[in-house]
Amino acid sequence: MDDIQTLLNTFQEQLSSTTTLTDLTVLETSYLGRNGTINNKLKNIGAIPPEERKQYGAAINDLKKAVETALLDRKSVLLKEKDTATKIDVTLPGTAYPHGSLHMVTYAVEEISRIFSKIGFIRMTYPEVEWEHFSFEALNIPKTHPARDDVETFFVDGPESEQYGKMVLSPHTSSGQVREMLRVGKPPIRMISIGKCYRPNWDVTHVPMFHQFEALCVDTTINITNLKGTIDYFVKEFFGENRESRLRPHHFQFTEPSFEVDITCGECLGTGEKNGAKCRVCKSGWLELAGAGMVHPNVLKAGGLDPDKYTAWAFAFGLERMMMMKEGIKLSDMRIMYSGDVKFLEQF
Ligand code: DAH
Repeated sequence: MDDIQTLLNTFQEQLSSTTTLTDLTVLETSYLGRNGTINNKLKNIGAIPPEERKQYGAAINDLKKAVETALLDRKSVLLKEKDTATKIDVTLPGTAYPHGSLHMVTYAVEEISRIFSKIGFIRMTYPEVEWEHFSFEALNIPKTHPARDDVETFFVDGPESEQYGKMVLSPHTSSGQVREMLRVGKPPIRMISIGKCYRPNWDVTHVPMFHQFEALCVDTTINITNLKGTIDYFVKEFFGENRESRLRPHHFQFTEPSFEVDITCGECLGTGEKNGAKCRVCKSGWLELAGAGMVHPNVLKAGGLDPDKYTAWAFAFGLERMMMMKEGIKLSDMRIMYSGDVKFLEQF
């Protein structure tokens, strides 16, 4: 009978050292299984003297019950432990993943589109890989014209078109002017086109891929005051009420008359002075911002429009330049915008 007590003690020790449900199943089989310790004891009951057998049998049954109960108790303890270990505490703060931000130029594109949609301009997109014809000839810049040197161009290796010449990476968004006239066919036209442009320059104020935003307005009575009014509206919306614009005479092949557009410096607000010294940003009070003018009759003709019937203005701003002039953004080198430096980019 002592062996039964010893067996129970051993079982209890083994039971308390189980840590998983698998341990428990193994232990259960080794005691209660068909060939387990307890069944073996019952099978061998014949070896017990007859007068002790009844009591011995009852003791084995008690042992079996004790083992079963203890196994069940232990199982519920282990189940509870497992449950607590895998439970998710929904009140804990989650893991914070770094999230990206839009590029500053993307923000500018969105803002410009919003500003111009308020005054009825639609946004168009024109090819980034463009024909020479739309980039130059249609803009009154024939092949032999020296002005073509002003715009250094990336040419694309590829078949030439008899009608349109070579393929180029669009050096400016002005190519969209004639495309838009041909697309619409009959004015009025109020269009903006914001796109990527390419020129082989790389320094503090130039990157080889940059963005321009072109605006074109064609109708029967369009004049310079419409151009100036639209530029003023845009400058105040985009840069702020305290900024002014001016037109300065210039030359472009595709506009006559032509202008350069200046805006008052955001640092000295047009005075040219800051803290008793010359303003370090502009030196003169003005910053050069864009090219503009009244669309040349030859350009209207290339777009299939009668220059005696229609007049038009056009302008183009460099987006990266604009971003550098926006108040609060002080950039000494344009190239950082395309450096992929997340510390810089995530500020916008
Ligand atoms: N296409 C010119 C450039 O890239 C900018 C420009 C000047 C566009 C005058 C215009 C304009 O629409 O009227 O330098």
